[in-house]
Amino acid sequence: MATHTLPPAANIIGAAVPRIDGPLKTTGRAVYAVDHDFPGLVHGVAVQSTIGKGRIRSLDVTAAEKMPGVVLVFHHGNMGKVYRLFPGQDDGHTNEARTPFEDDGIYYWGQFIAVVVAETLEQARAAASTVRVEYEQEAPDVRTDLAAGFEGKRESSWRRGDPEQALGSAAVTIDETYSTPVETHNPMEMHGTVAVWDGDNVTLYESSQGVVNHRRVMAEVLGVPYENVRVISRFIGSGFGGKLFPWPQSTMAAAAARKLNRPVKLSVDRRMMFSNVGHRPRTQQRIRLGATQDGKLTAIRHDFYTQTSELDDFVEHCGEQTPFLYSCPNLEVTTAMVRRNVGAPAPMRGPGAVPGLFALESAMDELAIKLKMDPVELRIKNDAERDEGRNLPFSSRHLKECYQVGAEKIGWKQRTPEVGSMRRNGKIIGMGVGAASWSAARIPCTASVELCPNGRVCVRCATQDIGTGTYTLFAQVVHAKTGVPLDRIDVFLGDTALPDGPTSGGSMVTSAMLPAATGAVTQAVTRLLNIAAQTPGSPFHGSHPDTLTVAEGRVVSKTQQPQVVGAAYHGGSLTANGIPFEEVLRLADLSGITATGRTFPSFEDPKAQKYSLHSYGAHFAEVEWDPGIAHVRVSRIFSIFDCGRIINTKAGANQILGAAVMGVGMALFEGTHYDAKFGQPINGNFADYLVTTCADLPELDVTFLDYPDLIVNEYGARGIGEIGMAGVAPAIASAVYHATGVRVRELPIRIEDLLQSKVVEA
Ligand code: MOS
Repeated sequence: MATHTLPPAANIIGAAVPRIDGPLKTTGRAVYAVDHDFPGLVHGVAVQSTIGKGRIRSLDVTAAEKMPGVVLVFHHGNMGKVYRLFPGQDDGHTNEARTPFEDDGIYYWGQFIAVVVAETLEQARAAASTVRVEYEQEAPDVRTDLAAGFEGKRESSWRRGDPEQALGSAAVTIDETYSTPVETHNPMEMHGTVAVWDGDNVTLYESSQGVVNHRRVMAEVLGVPYENVRVISRFIGSGFGGKLFPWPQSTMAAAAARKLNRPVKLSVDRRMMFSNVGHRPRTQQRIRLGATQDGKLTAIRHDFYTQTSELDDFVEHCGEQTPFLYSCPNLEVTTAMVRRNVGAPAPMRGPGAVPGLFALESAMDELAIKLKMDPVELRIKNDAERDEGRNLPFSSRHLKECYQVGAEKIGWKQRTPEVGSMRRNGKIIGMGVGAASWSAARIPCTASVELCPNGRVCVRCATQDIGTGTYTLFAQVVHAKTGVPLDRIDVFLGDTALPDGPTSGGSMVTSAMLPAATGAVTQAVTRLLNIAAQTPGSPFHGSHPDTLTVAEGRVVSKTQQPQVVGAAYHGGSLTANGIPFEEVLRLADLSGITATGRTFPSFEDPKAQKYSLHSYGAHFAEVEWDPGIAHVRVSRIFSIFDCGRIINTKAGANQILGAAVMGVGMALFEGTHYDAKFGQPINGNFADYLVTTCADLPELDVTFLDYPDLIVNEYGARGIGEIGMAGVAPAIASAVYHATGVRVRELPIRIEDLLQSKVVEA
């Protein structure tokens, strides 16, 4: 491992600490879910429906059952009992409520209708291809116009003042509809399960963003006691929300393994990723804005449709940020859920906020143009002083500074507002801005810290690291409080045998794990100092524990602790005196000192409830338009974020960079298309579903304002995983308008849209 110069222990919080699990991943030693292998393990391959709606008339598996190596063909007729979850309950959640093969109905293309299990993967795949199905086929409904045929109920989620009256009397109004497509989560690692039964106990190796929830769900679904289920997810090739909750393959693998009494491995392949394990649903959002002639907002209406599957209620909460982002006396947000024959949607990075802010922020740009006002100035003028939706003060909000810093960085002062008016190197330049926000909270978490006799420190928590740096954050907290070097700290995550930790969702793990980890290590150190003071033979025997502290993993006297300021951690010696903690354990005849910390959730904290807890940010995007070949490219993005105190600036900046890259994909490339006849995602592969590649990357630059939010936790840290994806697409779409004069309100922005540009010469 390369040696990195780290600051002294006390300053490691907020430092750019490389991921402690990085070497395992980059050398291929990190073991992922379907890497697991066991004696006697058999392989499953799922069979998918080839229609988008109807029912199975007959399923002929006789050929498959006779194929070499086949040990089981599981389907509606022979699956055996699996259970549904109690509907709507909090402590066990899935996106798809129907259990696999529950009935003979087909609700979306690609739905799993059988699974073939064989000695080898090749045998299972060959046998799966021989399953013959006859359907009673109906026309699936995959219409992209969500208003088409809508007969459901529209619900009001926020309302204040009288928006209709205010819109009617506004000097300037905007009334436009913005659409975002179905986007598919495309983590590098696909979903997969290895299920291993031992008597009545089952262990599931999963790629999961929430092992504790996964355990609860699988106990209920399989009908076994909670304590009989263990879920392990030590390394995850990301998830983006698609792995928050269990999907059918986990049930299929576990049920097949139970029936066979052999370990079963079942992978979701890339094509199945587009139909069976969630997606960000399509949205269609009408935004109406009213403003005075000098640019003060008087009315906002945000009325949207959100697509869901035939069987599951899923709402993409596009209006979540609308009530508090701007100050505005008259407002309403309404939701309409529209059913189509697609798989169950799921949260995807920044659910609600990301498509919602594409609409709201695009509309703000259109309003600025109509007012002949600078779009940054318009935002600053309407910035909210308090959360007018919930009538609460903000715990900490520095959005105006995000705009000011971003404008400075991109050179906004030089921006001339006329379409096509800026040129550089034979290209037209466009600049746009988009605001971002995401909620913060402190959710429950338990963690334990153990000082071990071999001089190592173990940290345990059943949360998981989905690639965001959670392993490293635990180690940073322990290092900060003990001075034990990072390479002597072992962090154990992603296993339900550990103390219960939170799902890696909602960008909430960091603010949840900090109090628990800090409490655990602080308590362990207190116990250590007490033992050092009590134990005969200890150099501190008889001292008052208050006179002792820990530095560099050694118990030292506070008065003798030398002052080392700004020394590099490696090589620098803080402590000439004292004794190593493991020596204290040896003298006291202890096998270790363990302590547990718990995080008290903000939703039970009366102080936190008095505030609106959110993070903020702004993206400033620049595009280059080459009218000669109708080519637009994002050239620069400056991302300025107010996410509380940043615990690890390297991992933190990495989150915003990755999110900005996904935002470029949202603006220019991504979108899942369903064929009208069968409802199949026709671009369900990496050749046809476009994502941002290296060649598409702009210059990216991230700035954190780094204001601690002490309402959220003692470190002042809020979450940063999702917010970075909000605001990118509207910044790019506005920059594209500035360069080309084409306002694209339906993502992604296509070449066909830009061919309408009247800016034909650079
Ligand atoms: Mo996030 S969409 O809660 O993984």
